Amino acid sequence: MYKILFTLLFRRMDPEQAHHLAFGWIRRVARVPVLRTLVAAVLAPRHTELRTEALGLRLHSPFGLAAGFDKNAVGIDGMAMLGFDHVEIGTVTGEPQPGNPKKRLFRLVADRALINRMGFNNDGSLAVAARLASRTPAFRTVVGVNIGKTKAVPEDEAVADYVKSAERLAPYADYLVVNVSSPNTPGLRDLQAVDHLRPLLTAVREAADRGVPARRVPLLVKIAPDLADEDIDAVADLAVELGLDGIIATNTTIARAGLGLTSDPAAVKETGGLSGAPLKARSLEVLRRLYARVGDRITLVGVGGVENAEDAWQRVLAGATLVQGYSAFVYEGPFWARAMHKGLAARLRTSPYATLADAVGADVRTTV
Ligand SMILES: Cc1cc2nc3c(=O)[nH]c(=O)nc-3n(C[C@H](O)[C@H](O)[C@H](O)COP(=O)(O)O)c2cc1C
Repeated sequence: MYKILFTLLFRRMDPEQAHHLAFGWIRRVARVPVLRTLVAAVLAPRHTELRTEALGLRLHSPFGLAAGFDKNAVGIDGMAMLGFDHVEIGTVTGEPQPGNPKKRLFRLVADRALINRMGFNNDGSLAVAARLASRTPAFRTVVGVNIGKTKAVPEDEAVADYVKSAERLAPYADYLVVNVSSPNTPGLRDLQAVDHLRPLLTAVREAADRGVPARRVPLLVKIAPDLADEDIDAVADLAVELGLDGIIATNTTIARAGLGLTSDPAAVKETGGLSGAPLKARSLEVLRRLYARVGDRITLVGVGGVENAEDAWQRVLAGATLVQGYSAFVYEGPFWARAMHKGLAARLRTSPYATLADAVGADVRTTV
């Protein structure tokens, strides 16, 4: 049914408008207690074998929603109702900002991909912190908070901008993510260089501890798939050195490899980050490389081109304790998370591994 709706309605609409329309429906349903309970009963099934411990947190499943879908923390319950077991909100910046001019989101339907240059359109960390503070959660969902740099802030003041967001948002975060990998904020990805990343991560760690003295909020960094292999290794080594809790691999790519011939030729030429199926191979490769380097010392989160349970399973075998997705949700619709959990549980049952934790990194451990 979603495929029909997608073809008849969403596909004819501007992708960003379609996002707001669909997200609006989800949020409206989630506001009605009886409806959200019913929907969640169907879409958020609990497979006991998928229970996961990561970042000091207990989750029903390793599978959750990647950053960018709910930038302003307005629909966490709605996404939890659809079965996403963790929801990463953001990217939130120090100051509110409108993002790039529209049109800034493009569908490459034949390639099951998206290109976006949203540019961190968001309400800013003060407003998002207030929203999170006043929230009464309907579901026990893990909430990650992803922070980034305000575009107008000069690069030499980037650390202060992240610190401001970290102090404000850490109290409401089950985990905090430093996003240095969006291609749509000029200069942002330069912060991935270890010389920039070390002071940034150190300052954000201190800010999170100041913001939440009673609890150590897990801190992760989200990296781009376009990093050279030696830079991936350098980030991995730095993460271990600084005692970081996790690495999220990966954000969208500026590369255009893996696109088929049938894609909309105009959309392919748009600048921005490419996500979805064409990103799959590189994101998996980055994850494997990270796991080979850090092993179980750091929690790895696999994201990029995850479309089905087999993809998620491959991420687990490559070293991911948690797996996220975004683009495939646009194409697969509201039953997607449910199918992911069901398929992943089935995959685990037919595998040689007794638990999901045993499977994490198994492919890499046998090849190194
Ligand atoms: C429209 C759109 C907006 C996004 N915004 C953000 C963002 O604000 N912060 C972030 O860290 N990642 C953002 N992402 C990247 C996703 O979180 C994810 O890393 C990427 O899309 C790869 O996963 P996928 O192939 O499952 O979509 C965005 C992706 C899309 C498609």
